[in-house]
Amino acid sequence: MSIPREFIELLLARIDLVDLINTQIPLRKKSGSNYFARCPFHNEKSASFSVSQPKQFYYCFGCGAHGNAIDFMMQHERLSFPEAIETLAKQAGVEVPRSAAIVKKDDSLPAMFDLMTEVAQYFYEQMRKSQRAINYLKDRGISGKIAKQFSLGYAPSGWNHLLEQFGKSEANKKRLLDTGLIIQKNNDTSHPSQVENNSNCYDRFRDRIMFPIQDYRGRIIGFGGRVIDQGEPKYLNSPETLLFQKGHELYGLYQALKMNRKLDKVLVVEGYMDVVALFQHDITYAVATLGTATTSHHLHKLVRYTSEIIFCFDGDEAGRTAAWRALQVLFPLMQDNLQIRFLFLPDGEDPDSLVRKESKLIFEKRLSSALSLSAFFFQTLSHQCDLTTMEGRARFAASALNYIKQVPYGILSEILLEELAKRARIDINELKQQVKKAESSTLTPMTVTNIQPDITKPKLKLPMQTILALLVQNPSLANLITDPILESNLLGHAFLQRLIVLIKHNPSINTGGLIEHWRNQKEEKFVTSLACWEHSIPESGISSEFLGAIRQLNLLGIDEEINRLLTKASQDGLAEEEKQALSDWILKKKAVKI
Ligand code: UTP
Ligand code: MN
Repeated sequence: MSIPREFIELLLARIDLVDLINTQIPLRKKSGSNYFARCPFHNEKSASFSVSQPKQFYYCFGCGAHGNAIDFMMQHERLSFPEAIETLAKQAGVEVPRSAAIVKKDDSLPAMFDLMTEVAQYFYEQMRKSQRAINYLKDRGISGKIAKQFSLGYAPSGWNHLLEQFGKSEANKKRLLDTGLIIQKNNDTSHPSQVENNSNCYDRFRDRIMFPIQDYRGRIIGFGGRVIDQGEPKYLNSPETLLFQKGHELYGLYQALKMNRKLDKVLVVEGYMDVVALFQHDITYAVATLGTATTSHHLHKLVRYTSEIIFCFDGDEAGRTAAWRALQVLFPLMQDNLQIRFLFLPDGEDPDSLVRKESKLIFEKRLSSALSLSAFFFQTLSHQCDLTTMEGRARFAASALNYIKQVPYGILSEILLEELAKRARIDINELKQQVKKAESSTLTPMTVTNIQPDITKPKLKLPMQTILALLVQNPSLANLITDPILESNLLGHAFLQRLIVLIKHNPSINTGGLIEHWRNQKEEKFVTSLACWEHSIPESGISSEFLGAIRQLNLLGIDEEINRLLTKASQDGLAEEEKQALSDWILKKKAVKI
């Protein structure tokens, strides 16, 4: 789904970032046009979080959080990009333009969510009526309070409860089918429901403990149902529906977010009961992948909330294999600020059984001794090769390199290469050479942080750094540039030209708007780093500083020309027009200097 760029621009123009943030965090006026507050994104005593009205941009001097109104909604309210737009549009009283098909699809969603809530409520009430269900949870050590926090329920036995309760209208019956709560029977199979009810549908969940699956906002998107006694399957889950995509969701994420203002770490486990039992023992940061392997969707979701993820696996061979598979999913998605660790459990135990045996303290000790991603990586590989022989080390290095090549360039890739060099007793530069070769011969895969380092952090020379940063932070400075800027070989020159054109075409654009213009483009990080660049120029001195830097830039361009011509003069001599040009440049240089 793409939202038209013009609409986003219009929306940003209608919203005032200061008002928006002020409704959530009281802002104090302090210096110039900046408002300050204690940063909502990290714990602090002083107020390092600044919001600029003219820039429509916020920046924390402490933790570096930054962005425009859309970023604020994404970071603070934990919304996705379209959700942030949707929320801001609602506040501004405008409608997000989208294709008719999507609007129609979205129309049915609220009613489906409502139905899921009602059904969960119904299961919750049934639980209280079933001593068997109550006893089951009690036996597993789950208190009434925790059952309530997770809205645990009970689907009674029988075939037609949901249809009878909720299927009065055709529309609702369709919703029950669409959410997978009831199943349409093939006409040729005879089922008891046909006897009891002349409908050809029946309840999917019968005589099961019900675990509502919630999205990060708490909306119920599906259910898991566990048999009480023996039976197959042990857990029955909602099918994939419009609301529920199995490989994307994390059970317990909503509760974890609700309990923790900031999630320092997240523990990823396998089962519903693991999450609930850990919660019962005051470990409120566990989520479950619902029996599926770790996917990139899970990771993308989690990195929005935390910088440390611990994956839990069985200690047996199957668990190690699953962990190795997860590592391969994770490698291409690694980012520098993300820490990944693996916890292997003793044989025959799962987090539920362990935490009930051990105290929270002992369980958390296990967590703190979990293997780092690189430790697990080298441990696994070195088991497969004999590192005491040269051939073994060569094989080890070759196979390790194959994996390391997938890690985006950054701290982790450096650590892995260094460690590999040490273990294989190979020169690190040789390894780097090999990675480079591999990079140039293959297309690099798309990843979260797959941006070439020289684009994210070009090393700008001083006048260019000042010009670009001041311009991004105060776009109206572009009006001060009356003459075309002279060509120069300085890094950033081409970008400067583009920036000036963009601002001249959008005279009212501010910093927040510029950031938006480059969202998801390869220049995005570069532009935000310019927006966040801290200079110590007082507001009253900004235009003269800017003009001074432009003058310096022009001088550099002139010097380049003069030097080129002088070099040529000393080698091959100059043609008449070149001599003329040289004296013109020298005159120009004098004029600029004044
Ligand atoms: P396990 O079989 O390890 O069960 O499945 P568990 O979590 O320990 O369950 P309890 O303690 O016996 O109640 C792990 C997860 O795999 C999914 C569920 O999400 C489950 O929590 N699963 C398992 C299914 O979806 N269907 C099944 O039949 C079994
Ligand atoms: Mn279990």
